[in-house]
Amino acid sequence: MTVLTDLIRSRRTIHTFLPDPPDVEVLKQAIEVACWAPNHKLTEPWRFHLLGPKKAAEIVQLNADLITAKKGAAAGEEKRQRWSEMPGWFVVSFRRDPDPFREEEDYAACCCAVQNLSLILWEQGLGLKWTTGIVQQPAFLQLLDLDASHRVVGLFWYGKPATVPAQSRRPVTEVIQEWA
Ligand SMILES: Cc1cc2nc3c(=O)[nH]c(=O)nc-3n(C[C@H](O)[C@H](O)[C@H](O)COP(=O)(O)O)c2cc1C
Repeated sequence: MTVLTDLIRSRRTIHTFLPDPPDVEVLKQAIEVACWAPNHKLTEPWRFHLLGPKKAAEIVQLNADLITAKKGAAAGEEKRQRWSEMPGWFVVSFRRDPDPFREEEDYAACCCAVQNLSLILWEQGLGLKWTTGIVQQPAFLQLLDLDASHRVVGLFWYGKPATVPAQSRRPVTEVIQEWA
């Protein structure tokens, strides 16, 4: 088993973090490496928005408001509490290409970069959670000075894991189809 194989297998989406704020310099260095992801036409489409406590608090508030409007005050408060506990925050976006096929390629490249980033952080004892629930909300884009010409790949939380969940994958024979 190689180091890389172990990293890929052991990486987990982290849902609960220790409260210590992660070192943003570690994130920046990891981003530099993550950008060596494949990207067709060398568009390097990814943009990383590193969010400090002020911007994070605005997103927490927006999400609480959205959940309150949809599911009521108790649900909104519960989300506010949970999101307030997230130690490190960033968003990945890219500029939409007028050609939908190229946009898909740029999205795919961003996802490759995110997985790179996730593994590099994991190697350093930092977990990541990728969330998409809020990212298409116009108010969310506005908070990041983005508009409909941008697409958000995800909102990400990172930090030291409080717990590491167990996961499984289906047997590889179920996902392989062989052709002569
Ligand atoms: C595009 C994308 C969006 C995701 N959004 C969420 C999310 O909104 N909430 C969540 O709990 N996990 C989200 N995840 C994480 C998956 O739930 C997680 O990868 C899956 O449960 C497998 O767990 P693992 O990453 O530990 O192997 C997302 C993952 C991807 C790739």
